[in-house]
Amino acid sequence: QYKMILDLDTGIDDALAIAYALATPECDLIGIVSSYGNVLVERAAQNSLNLLEMLGHPEVPVFKGLAHSSTTDSFEVMPISAQIHGVNGVGEVEVKKAARPVETMSGVDFFIQAAHKYKENLIIVPTGPLTNLAAAIQKDPAIVDLIGNVTLMGGALTVPGNVTPATEANINQDPAAADVVFRSNLNLTMVGLDVTTRTLLTTKETQTWRDLKTVAGEKYADIVDYYIDAYKVTSPHLGGCALHDPLAVAVAVEPDLVSTLSLNMKVETEGPTVGRTIGDQTRINEPALHTKAAVNVDKKRFLTEFMEKLTQLFQA
Ligand code: BDR
Ligand code: CA
Repeated sequence: QYKMILDLDTGIDDALAIAYALATPECDLIGIVSSYGNVLVERAAQNSLNLLEMLGHPEVPVFKGLAHSSTTDSFEVMPISAQIHGVNGVGEVEVKKAARPVETMSGVDFFIQAAHKYKENLIIVPTGPLTNLAAAIQKDPAIVDLIGNVTLMGGALTVPGNVTPATEANINQDPAAADVVFRSNLNLTMVGLDVTTRTLLTTKETQTWRDLKTVAGEKYADIVDYYIDAYKVTSPHLGGCALHDPLAVAVAVEPDLVSTLSLNMKVETEGPTVGRTIGDQTRINEPALHTKAAVNVDKKRFLTEFMEKLTQLFQA
């Protein structure tokens, strides 16, 4: 059983990533680190606590991550994020407040501690900005060779970005941190827009959760319907909402859900293409290739597993 840490800016698809991880027996979710992005870091942590409790897993610890990017000294939620995820991050749906607080240890220190403790058994799945992971690498560079795998949701290699044509939202929040992660020797898998905009959900599926008549089923249906409605406005051509973050969790456990391109990558940190995830020409002749970038996905298999797992979890 893998030990998994999620790093989330919780967020509707982040909320689906939590559910997917809890419903996957091959992975032991040992903690959630919070990030800023879809919401402020405090709200992300609170949302994770609340969702864990609603899903019957109040034992999973939640750690506070950094509040803003490595190159700025504050963070404000973008209006588009509030439009897609709601001001509260969970589609304006009220989820009962969890009884417990966040842990006292910082998210960055939790990454470092877990890397030394679990080594190659540890999988980290960031589905927000890469600020926390970059800070952990900078504080303790040894973790790069300890961590088994990092499977991140972010970036775009074969399709344009979703913030500008050059950049995807998670990378765009902190391109410098993302560059630290991509240019490190981590065993990295990039689950970017190339694949996540092919795995879509509609109200047909959320209705089956609502029909379960459980608190979790009904709340998740309400939350995700908000996200589906937002996609009708922001990305009507897709015909559903993109399952960005849960796909990263699925790929972390079942890498053969996607086909990948192996290469060494970097992130552009300045100029008109800031935030672009691209091959690193300075490492093009290096024999070791550190990143596997997902370029195609078995969407039917993923969607079947996604619905089976979440329906079972919401039934409990
Ligand atoms: C990513 O950006 C966030 O808004 C989503 O939660 C997802 O992680 C998609 O670009
Ligand atoms: Ca996210």
